[in-house]
Amino acid sequence: MTSIARPAPAKRPSRRGRSQWSWAWVVLSSLVIAGYFVGQYAQGTLDALAHEHVGLADDYASRALPIRVAFYIHIVSAGLALALGPWQFSQRLRSRRLRLHRGIGRTYMVSVAIGAVSALVMSMFSSVGLLGFFGFGSLAVLWGWTAWRGYRAIRERDIRSHQAWMIRNFALTYAAVTLRLWFGVLILVQVPFAHGADPFDAILTQAYAPLPFLCWLPNIVIAEFMIRRRGLPALHLATSPGTRHPETSGRAAAPSG
Ligand code: HEM
Repeated sequence: MTSIARPAPAKRPSRRGRSQWSWAWVVLSSLVIAGYFVGQYAQGTLDALAHEHVGLADDYASRALPIRVAFYIHIVSAGLALALGPWQFSQRLRSRRLRLHRGIGRTYMVSVAIGAVSALVMSMFSSVGLLGFFGFGSLAVLWGWTAWRGYRAIRERDIRSHQAWMIRNFALTYAAVTLRLWFGVLILVQVPFAHGADPFDAILTQAYAPLPFLCWLPNIVIAEFMIRRRGLPALHLATSPGTRHPETSGRAAAPSG
């Protein structure tokens, strides 16, 4: 009788290994975006940067002083939140350096609060008008609200709700990264169809238009999947007595209020 040697099954990375890679990606992408996009506005005044067509300097250089102030407050506070946020999801940091986790957490919360208020102000003057107002405006409100819920949960020692709210909140902070990724994708898909003497301006305008919503809506859906997969208290659109899930029905588990 002949025996057929079976090839050894390919080693798949464990779930823990995969989540470490995802976390590393989130840390790296957050630091790159926070460093690069905030850093570019430190290279000169808004007027000087507007001449070089850097980022949104063109749109904001001619605005009234309070709006330019809100612009700078926003990029510094939101940039700080993006750079700090990913570290809070490190299991090692939470279990070995709890005081550091708390310290970073407080700075993150203050940054989000300031970043959200200044973003709400800026959304009223968005370069894409009403789309920007509704898209970035609702993002700003949800960003502040989810941070508040996460803070309140931890003050009540409700750790599982705190984790769930902070996953939702960071998914919104991460909109700064996904916005730039979507922008790149939407520019690339238009290039083969470009025509005319100078099609680049039209490509940029069309690529930017859906971003006020596209940058955060998929993130919040993915965050909700992650929350469910981890068995954390998920959001329920309707609560009827018969549909309450045991995991989410206790005070410690349900997102309260
Ligand atoms: C998550 C909530 C956030 C909201 C609601 C928000 C809102 C806004 C708005 C309304 C603008 C002006 C856009 C326009 O006029 O079209 C803007 C620009 C900007 N935001 Fe945010 N933002 C958020 C998070 C962040 C984060 C986490 C960063 C960190 C890097 C960031 C960095 C910037 C920068 C650098 C600009 C200037 C435009 C550019 O160079 O791309 N924002 N934001």
